Amino acid sequence: MLKDFPSSFWRDAAKDDPTTSVHQDVTAEVAVVGAGIVGVVAALELAEQGKQVVLIEAARFGTGTTGYTTAKVSAQHGVIYAELIKTLGEEKARLYYDANIEALQFLEGQVESLGIDCDLERQHAYMYADSSSSAAKLLEKEDEAYATLGIDGGDATDEVNELLPYTVKKATVMHDQLQFHPVKYLQGLMKRFLELGGTFYEMTRVTGIEYGSPNRLTTEAGHTVTAKDVVVATHYPFNDFKGFYFSKMEVERSYVVSAEIPSAQFPEGMFISVDSPHRSLRHVKLDNGQKMAMFGGENHLSGHEKETFKCYENLGEFAHRHFGLESFTHHWSAQDLITLDKVPYIGRMTDDTPHVFVATGFSKWGMSQGIIAARVITDLIMQRRNRYEDLYDPSRSKWKLSDAARFVKTNADVAKELIKGKVKPAEKSLDELGFDEGAIVDHDGEHVAAYRDVDGNVTLVGSACTHMGCTVNWNQAERSWDCPCHGSRFKPNGEVIEGPAVKNLPRK
Ligand code: FES
Repeated sequence: MLKDFPSSFWRDAAKDDPTTSVHQDVTAEVAVVGAGIVGVVAALELAEQGKQVVLIEAARFGTGTTGYTTAKVSAQHGVIYAELIKTLGEEKARLYYDANIEALQFLEGQVESLGIDCDLERQHAYMYADSSSSAAKLLEKEDEAYATLGIDGGDATDEVNELLPYTVKKATVMHDQLQFHPVKYLQGLMKRFLELGGTFYEMTRVTGIEYGSPNRLTTEAGHTVTAKDVVVATHYPFNDFKGFYFSKMEVERSYVVSAEIPSAQFPEGMFISVDSPHRSLRHVKLDNGQKMAMFGGENHLSGHEKETFKCYENLGEFAHRHFGLESFTHHWSAQDLITLDKVPYIGRMTDDTPHVFVATGFSKWGMSQGIIAARVITDLIMQRRNRYEDLYDPSRSKWKLSDAARFVKTNADVAKELIKGKVKPAEKSLDELGFDEGAIVDHDGEHVAAYRDVDGNVTLVGSACTHMGCTVNWNQAERSWDCPCHGSRFKPNGEVIEGPAVKNLPRK
């Protein structure tokens, strides 16, 4: 079951009514690129303010990152507040918390006012350490940070030991956070956006931008979208060379398996462990009275793990051991971008492009931070002061060409991958390639990425990532070619799944 093709529980709610793609040149006041949580919330907010907005999505609506999360909407972002107090100071740490709590309040108000049925409910958020003393100590420090910042929560060790079927050494709670159904939420927002006269195009990949006044976006099919303001809400910015975003973020993948369970056998609350292996738990209440239990974790740097079936199997084994679950309805994975200081980049992309805005680097907390991003960017476009804009300003650390070059040089992993791909031998010969298997093979004197499907058909594509040339690795569980440098992913036929790459791997 866990070796089948992955599918997300959230995506079951997707309606497959195709809309149109950009088929001619388009002009608008604001172009929003990417119809995930940032893009859709921003597009709607701007349309509500009377802006003429065009929203563009590279794939089908709801198939991007937002449909593959655990959809916890929380200000508890792992162990972060003690660190933020240390690195940014108490004032900014509090501001970070306030921003996220405000996002929760905004979400609740919006869902209520628009009447969106998206299974939104308040749940306490718990972090726990079950085995490691150092992780327990981190949580003690986090309790102190909560007290310093006046966060509603603190020690919850006894409470979590009552709730979970295994013993934890230490736990910390943040009260009254939220969980919801992200795809149903986006559908509700999209309906309102279209009612307001907004324009939505899907299956339209933006591949370039000519900066100016106005800005001009180019699509893969060769059309132009002209707009004074552009919001880049593509998870990884498609134009990441502007501002050297590729040098400022790490990319991680994580996994989720889900299974139905009798309601009483799975606790209320949302849980994450802070020790290794990392685990994340939440549930959805189903109409049949059962719960859909979700188990997340198995994080690794994107493109660095070849045995990805194992990631799902490990989660399945955890769910079996602690909750007696034998079979799973869904399994899926997601990609997270982590900034240098763990605070997202939200705002003007660079100082010299005042009408191009970016939102990226949400770590694993894209639901609350995505809403913050949409609201900060809306205020910037509407020329209103937002109290969080300085905290999230992407230019808070000024990177010049020399800084980026230095960073790439010192980033041992990326540098190593760049070189490794050039010198390492082919993984196997084409003849040795099994069914439903991908590998780098020698073909006509060059290294190519080869996949043999379940029927035995072989597809060959170039093995050099079209972003910056690192050699891609086969991801067996997702059936994709994943780049170990900045996380670009490609289908077996070379089509881009997610960036920063915007060009397909060439067919061989
Ligand atoms: Fe940057 Fe592949 S994603 S080289």
